[in-house]
Amino acid sequence: MLIRKPSDIKRSEITDRALYLNRRQFIQRAAAVLAAGVPGWHGAHAAVPGKIALPAIRKSAYSTNEPLNSLKDITTYNNFYEFGTDKYSPARLAKSLRTRPWTIKVSGEVKRPKTFDVDELIKLAPLEERVYRLRCVEAWSMVIPWVGFPLSELIKRVEPTGNAKYVEFTTLHDPEQMPGQRAIFGSLDWPYVEGLRMDEAMHPLAILGFGLYGEVLPNPNGAPVRIVVPWKYGFKSAKSIVAIRFVEKEPVNSWQKANPREYGFYSNVNPAVDHPRWSQATERRVGEFFKRRTLMFNGYAEQVAQLYSGMDLGKYY
Ligand code: MTE
Repeated sequence: MLIRKPSDIKRSEITDRALYLNRRQFIQRAAAVLAAGVPGWHGAHAAVPGKIALPAIRKSAYSTNEPLNSLKDITTYNNFYEFGTDKYSPARLAKSLRTRPWTIKVSGEVKRPKTFDVDELIKLAPLEERVYRLRCVEAWSMVIPWVGFPLSELIKRVEPTGNAKYVEFTTLHDPEQMPGQRAIFGSLDWPYVEGLRMDEAMHPLAILGFGLYGEVLPNPNGAPVRIVVPWKYGFKSAKSIVAIRFVEKEPVNSWQKANPREYGFYSNVNPAVDHPRWSQATERRVGEFFKRRTLMFNGYAEQVAQLYSGMDLGKYY
């Protein structure tokens, strides 16, 4: 990766889960009071991004109960090359990203192509809190309480044809708003593109993310909508997406295009297959001092291993 391997992860405080839940309940109650009492109020998520809680979020059995990373860690230590290659620059430079109005064009091999407004998309299915491990290819990880719903909910509604074998996700391309897209050297070929095989995209763990910590997605994390695919390296989880296309051929994703020797299509977390420049056997959880062992499929093997049965994962990295 053009991204450097971090050796300087700060030891920072981990938010206590009970504290967070109390805080969230408080915010939700406050939002409910507002919704009941303010004329013309149409739901919290459409208002001030990053400030107001999303309504009605249910718990999910797919969540891990590991300690969460703090909101500060999650929103200030980011890979979002559209806002610079430095981990700390998205927090600064993504502030001004305009996330409304925002549309997502769903097209390609589907019977019902449609361009969704993000506020319409968010209402397509009940929101859930999914506490997932995120394992970056650079060998650090975090635990993040995402808010979203299964990507399959959207896929079912657009009715893919028999030719839809893969799904391609494209991030906004707007060099005026995204300074990283104006960089001449050392960056990616824009827009950022990612892809999943159809059965991966339909897997219940793969979600469309609209929020985290009970609030709308902060801009550095890919507001207003991203995908989250927890058993794959973090770069598969494309941020700030504007297009979803169903295709017959395997899409070429941005990192694969930039460096095919180092990045493949599948990018499943796999401690047995090293990156050509570093080991993937261990990782550092942001906020912790000691390294921990990386788990096959990032700890989701029980749920996803069957998607790859019979495949040589050394070859299809
Ligand atoms: N999506 C876009 N559009 N641009 C990016 O640079 N970086 C990826 C992924 N999605 C990236 C992206 C990488 S390398 C990681 S590790 C995760 O986002 C980080 O997500 P987070 O900042 O929300 O933790």
